[in-house]
Amino acid sequence: MGIRIAGTGSYAPEKILTNFDLEKMVETSDEWIRTRTGIQERHIAASEQACSDLAFQAASRAIEMAGMSAADIDFIFVASITNDKVFPSTACILQHKLGAVNSGCIDIEAACSGLLYGMELAIGLMRGHKKNKYRNILVVGAEKLSNLVDWEDRNTCVLFGDGAAAVILQSTDDESELVVSSEVKADGKYGDILQIRAGGSACPTTHETIDQKLHYMYMEGQEVFKAAVGAMVGACKNVLEEAGVTPDQVAWLVPHQANYRILKAVASRLEVPEERVFMNLDRYGNTSAASIGLCLDEMVRGNKVSKGDYVLLTAFGGGLTWAAVLLKWN
Ligand code: UT7
Repeated sequence: MGIRIAGTGSYAPEKILTNFDLEKMVETSDEWIRTRTGIQERHIAASEQACSDLAFQAASRAIEMAGMSAADIDFIFVASITNDKVFPSTACILQHKLGAVNSGCIDIEAACSGLLYGMELAIGLMRGHKKNKYRNILVVGAEKLSNLVDWEDRNTCVLFGDGAAAVILQSTDDESELVVSSEVKADGKYGDILQIRAGGSACPTTHETIDQKLHYMYMEGQEVFKAAVGAMVGACKNVLEEAGVTPDQVAWLVPHQANYRILKAVASRLEVPEERVFMNLDRYGNTSAASIGLCLDEMVRGNKVSKGDYVLLTAFGGGLTWAAVLLKWN
């Protein structure tokens, strides 16, 4: 049995918030945001749009590209830190919206690494059943981060955006391998440097937690920056070594779109030239679990990737979690 990507899809809400718009909201400047992060604008969901609505748009586009119906999907993973509800899962809500009546459903919480965690689990599920029980698996990364951001905090509000992206992994009758090697890792010791401090069982919501703004994104930016570079470089080196692939054979390095300085640092340490690093964060900002899928969909629809290309995906996020997945496009 082989595995291929049968379809990709993405969705970004209509409303665009530019750096110049942010200049009117907090003490910042287009120049600071561009030079420190590479971001120029981000998309912001409408108040009535939930995470599953963004996921629905992306998943529908992937299903259409795959030329299948929602009923053909055997399993749905949704990666998000901005789920519609505590429960039921966003995957179940999405399943109902899609009419994917034959699928199992589960959410994944691995922050910005969520899509890669989802792909790893999907491939394990496909390979784990001798009877080829799970032929089509939908993996979605979807985020409405505008709800988690304190729009008065310039340290974080300039970084994030809303969006969703989907990938359909499909088993094939030939032996063609999509995933050549992969590594997903975490280190919970560093959980405090990137987190939402209140709203869970450790610190339930009270009037005080709301007054103290503990339901918004908390981030120690420089610590996250350092950890992100080290972890992604290490994971990428490991998957390349395991596959016997050298950096000069990599057609595209697709890192989580957090900050162009992080992306450049990762690329330079891996010795992958900048022109082979896929970047679209100037238009989307950091969309957490959606970010790598937004890149993949843009690459596929823009014919930027060809059969036989090595594509190295890598992500890093709260948890701390990180991952690298080396694809050979088929
Ligand atoms: O998906 C994973 C999650 N997050 C990340 O990957 C983020 C990782 N970290 C980063 O990308 C960077 O650390 C940031 C972009 C968050 C910050 O960049 P930095 O170069 O590390 O800046 P800094 O935090 O050292 O701040 C430098 C200065 C400070 O002023 P002082 O203390 O030097 O006077 C900040 O208060 O920049 C100030 N500053 C701003 N100024 C204008 C912070 N945010 C802003 C802002 N506009 N939006």
